[in-house]
Amino acid sequence: MRSAVALLLILAFVPSASAETASGGMVVSVSPLATDVGADVLADGGSAVDAAVAVGFAEAVTWPEAGNLGGGGFLLIHRPTGKPAFIDYRELAPAAATKEMFAKGVDYQSIKTAGVPGTVRGFALAHKGYGKLPWKDLVLPAAKLAEEGFPVSAVLARRLNGVIADKKTTNAEFRRIFGTEGGWKAGDVLKQPDLGRTLRLIAEKGADAFYTGEVAEKIIAEMKAGGGLISRDDLKAYQPESRTPLRGTYRDYEVLSAPPPSSGGTALITALNILELYDLKKNPWMSAETAHLVAEAMRRAFADRALHLGDPAFSEVPESLVAKEHARKLAKSIDLATATKSEALTPELELAPGGQNTTHFSIVDRDGLAVSNTYTLENAFGCRVVVRGAGFILNNEMTDFNHAPGVTTRAGAIGTEPNLVAPGKRPLSSMTPTILLKDGKLALVTGSPGGRTIINTVLCVVLNYADYGGDVRAAVDAPRMHHQWFPDRIVLEDFPGRDKLDAKLKALGHATATAVQGDAHSIAVDPKTGTLIGAADRRLEGKAKGVEK
Ligand code: DON
Repeated sequence: MRSAVALLLILAFVPSASAETASGGMVVSVSPLATDVGADVLADGGSAVDAAVAVGFAEAVTWPEAGNLGGGGFLLIHRPTGKPAFIDYRELAPAAATKEMFAKGVDYQSIKTAGVPGTVRGFALAHKGYGKLPWKDLVLPAAKLAEEGFPVSAVLARRLNGVIADKKTTNAEFRRIFGTEGGWKAGDVLKQPDLGRTLRLIAEKGADAFYTGEVAEKIIAEMKAGGGLISRDDLKAYQPESRTPLRGTYRDYEVLSAPPPSSGGTALITALNILELYDLKKNPWMSAETAHLVAEAMRRAFADRALHLGDPAFSEVPESLVAKEHARKLAKSIDLATATKSEALTPELELAPGGQNTTHFSIVDRDGLAVSNTYTLENAFGCRVVVRGAGFILNNEMTDFNHAPGVTTRAGAIGTEPNLVAPGKRPLSSMTPTILLKDGKLALVTGSPGGRTIINTVLCVVLNYADYGGDVRAAVDAPRMHHQWFPDRIVLEDFPGRDKLDAKLKALGHATATAVQGDAHSIAVDPKTGTLIGAADRRLEGKAKGVEK
């Protein structure tokens, strides 16, 4: 495993493709075809939000493990003039969901874990506020990709073959659409006519075509067939929320990020507030000194996350968590010579004995409007159920709730109150779409998939950008690390010199493990020239495409 990871990273860090630059707009996403759709929208005079809607619908076709109609996410907007905006289109627990639902042994892949999808009404709300082009023009490119088909990439072929080979993928409709005789090879064409028809309905009739009428009836039929919880009323009533983005500062930068029901912005800003108290760049990135400090900041931010974070409509999330004063208090317990034991941070909590499934894209338009969007089905391919006749995959987002009330374990399960299941509640997320400003001007747009690692992937990108050189390509390429309080260990990417770092971290009292961490498709703005610099993350696939003024 270790050597496969090392090979992947060494390949990733070969500086073959430098960053894409442009003067009049930039799209960076995991899906080259979706990036092209977004760049066309920008070239046609669309805003960054128009392009985001088009990329979001296109990825529902071309990146089916995470791009979606049947899931949800967060869309953060920086406006060159005027206040920033945040659209929360996270899924909701259906009215029939209960606190005990997981105790009854609900399987992770079950349709019972599907929340009410938010993506389609979320995109419609974003478009209503900040779109310039007709809605239809933003949905139809995706419909076309679904109907006419597209050549699958090597990565997508691998992912599809993997999910089909898994015996747990039992849904016949999923296997019919995503399986193929003899397995997928790069270049084979994937057609999704049912999904194309659903997208055409959404293009012609607007977002309500997803939540009422024939598409809604197909969702309800699927719920009946599989014992899912979503009702007609749940679908009809679903609404995305406009929220105030969370704001913090890190050295010379203003940080805009995701407020609750994401834990992402809160944990990111807490960790940054702690790290701001130290002169990080005195030591190189991935030196033992830096890795120790970063891990200790992550550990503390994640302990807060477990104790306090959940849907703010159901329990209060203390605003003080992102205050500088709170960070100063947390930093007092950091010992530069020894790892803190995670359980020492949360004496009030009794501990019981004990991939890439989301996707992020970044877009900036010619006016400097910027979108940072992360959306998900939760697991790769969600609950692996395709709604028959409608062609889209349903999420398993309710698995993001705390499963067992009161059961928090050293293995990483959390059972605290704020994120227990309740009808109409949004499960706590780690998605962290983030934007950095300097002197009020756009500097960096970033975000990532990866469950709880998302927060720390964004933290690593921000630290590399702000403290280690201001080069977005290098910041995206730099090896990453993750500590989430429990399990009490640092997970690091592999890189030359990793063995020496491991030995030093062990001497400080840290346990370590190895994994590749997220893909953070990011855009920076050159502060001198205003040139947009797009960096697709080379850990997976992805493409940056610019347009000129
Ligand atoms: O909202 C969240 O934080 C998760 N549902 C994201 C899931 C994800 O990134 C999958 N990755 N491992």
